[in-house]
This record gives sequence, C-alpha cells and structure tokens, in this order.
Amino acid sequence: MNPKILVTQKIPAPAYPLLDAIGDVDANTEEGYIWSPDELLARAPGHEYMLCLVTDTIDARLLEACTPQLKLVANMAVGYNNIDVATASRLGIVVTNTPGVLSDTTADLAFGLLLATARRIGEAERYLRAGKFTGWGPLLLCGADVHGAILGVLGAGRIGNAMARRASGFDMRVVYYNRHRLPRAEEEQYALTYASLDEVLQQADFLSIHVPYARETHHLISMRELALMKPEAMLINTARGPIVDEKALVQALQRGMIAGAGLDVFEREPAVEPELLTMENVVLLPHIASASIKTRTRMATMASENIVAHAKGQRPPNAVEKG
Ligand code: DGY
Repeated sequence: MNPKILVTQKIPAPAYPLLDAIGDVDANTEEGYIWSPDELLARAPGHEYMLCLVTDTIDARLLEACTPQLKLVANMAVGYNNIDVATASRLGIVVTNTPGVLSDTTADLAFGLLLATARRIGEAERYLRAGKFTGWGPLLLCGADVHGAILGVLGAGRIGNAMARRASGFDMRVVYYNRHRLPRAEEEQYALTYASLDEVLQQADFLSIHVPYARETHHLISMRELALMKPEAMLINTARGPIVDEKALVQALQRGMIAGAGLDVFEREPAVEPELLTMENVVLLPHIASASIKTRTRMATMASENIVAHAKGQRPPNAVEKG
C-alpha cells in the first residue's frame, strides 16, 4: 500500500510530483493558511510522512497522536525548533531539515537588512512616498557607514560564514563568537577574528545573529548584552526571534543604548512588540530571509527527497541529530 503523506502548507510546485510518485499526498492547498495545532491534530494521524514548516508546531501531543504510523517529519527549513526532536526520536520518528541550500539567500537578506538599517533605507523611502522630499539636503537622512565598520557575528555556521564573506566585500572587519572556535584555516579563509561573546558585543558596529534557537540560546541577547553594545551599534536578527529578549530590545532602543535594529524574526511571531512598529530606526521584515523562488523551491524538493529516500528504504540525507 502507498504511504500517506501530509503536506501541511502550500509549497513550491516542483515538490509535489516527487511525493506523488511514492505515496498518496494529502495537502493543505490554501496558500497562506496555516492549520492551527488542533487542525493539525485532526489531520495528521494516520500518515506515514509529514512535510511541515517552521510555523507548524510539531509537539509531543501531535507526535504521540501520530504514533505508530508516522515514520518521518521533513521540515522545510534549516531550523527545527518547531519540532520536539527528543520526543520524535523516543517514538522512533526521524526528523529531517534542509541545511545548506538557504545559507547564501539568508545571508543576502541579512546583509540587505544591515544596509537598510545603517542607511535608513526604509525610513527614506517612506519619507519620499509621503511627499516630503523637496530637494537634496546636506543633513537629510544621514546614516551610518557600513564599509570599514566592525561586524560582530554570533554563530559561525554556514549562514554566519556567508555573512562574513559579504562583509569582506565592504572592507568590514569581522569578529565572531561561536560555541566552538573554528579551526585556524577556516578563520583565515573567512577573515574571522574570534572573541568572547562580551568582546564581540563591545566591539561590533553591527551585530548579526546566526545561532540556532535552543534552550541555551533563549534570550542570548537580553538587557545585560544590549548594555555592553556601543550606543551607535545596530542589531540584525535573521535567525529566530526568541534569541533576543524583544522587550529588552525595545527598552534599549528607547533609551538610546543602541542606535537601531533590523529584524526579520520576532519573539512572538507573527506578533511584533507594538513599540517597534513606531520606531523609524528599526527595519522590520516578515521572516523572509530564505524567500527567493529558487531557494524555497530547493528547500521544498530537499524536504521531499528526505521522504522519498525513507520510503525507498534508504537513509534520509538530512536527518537531524537526536535532541
Ligand atoms: C529556516 O530555514 O529555518 C528559516 O527560518 C525558514 O525559512
């Protein structure tokens, strides 16, 4: 009998034929509609495979309800903090992700967000569209220079390294903090200088976050860390919202402890701290760092390939480590 495959949200079209070829696909086809945890609970049991996204909560309650049929959960994302991996492995359910394919696309956006925040691009565009542009002005919308500035990178994985490569094109000096220091050859390859977390916070003109979200990185950036940053520094977050204590960030911005922030992710996503919406020195994006057509298509086919491999009795190429 064909395995049953649940696809929880509408995904790029090239992924479906891969799944149709090996199973019976039951898909949410309503674009932009995310099933609530209760809807997911009503739909998922009885399926062998689930292709899901970061906005789906795959918790113990759901995984237990899907046991013993569910064999594999394929997350169409590199991050998998939406999945209770420990429970999945206890129940013998494999979890896979999509590493590597989105690193450059995410770093492109992170660097764009850095530029937009430094050079006040969103604010300037709003100014022009509001009909306020009456002519060039020597003091009009002056921002911070990016070239020659110090970039602090938290998390020197694939995306952090891709960010550092972009920074080198802007003659930036890159200091990084990572749980494990990188081998010297890798530091040299990306022109990275290792420093402690506090040193990176103290030195950075721009601090860009690229660590995964886990219990240990919850509120990694809170009031203590923000207080260590320079008043002219800017914080860029394209990783996960809860890595930053968003209420502390609001206070730090209000008090001028840092100069600005560029955020693609939020602590209580899709909710955003209301004060942030009123701040001109903050650039806000709706979690689009990996959103290029090519990359999202590759993420969808990669998630599907993990399901296909398992269904054919092969080792899924992107199984994540047991949590
Ligand atoms: C990821 O892959 O973790 C992204 O945040 C989702 O695009």
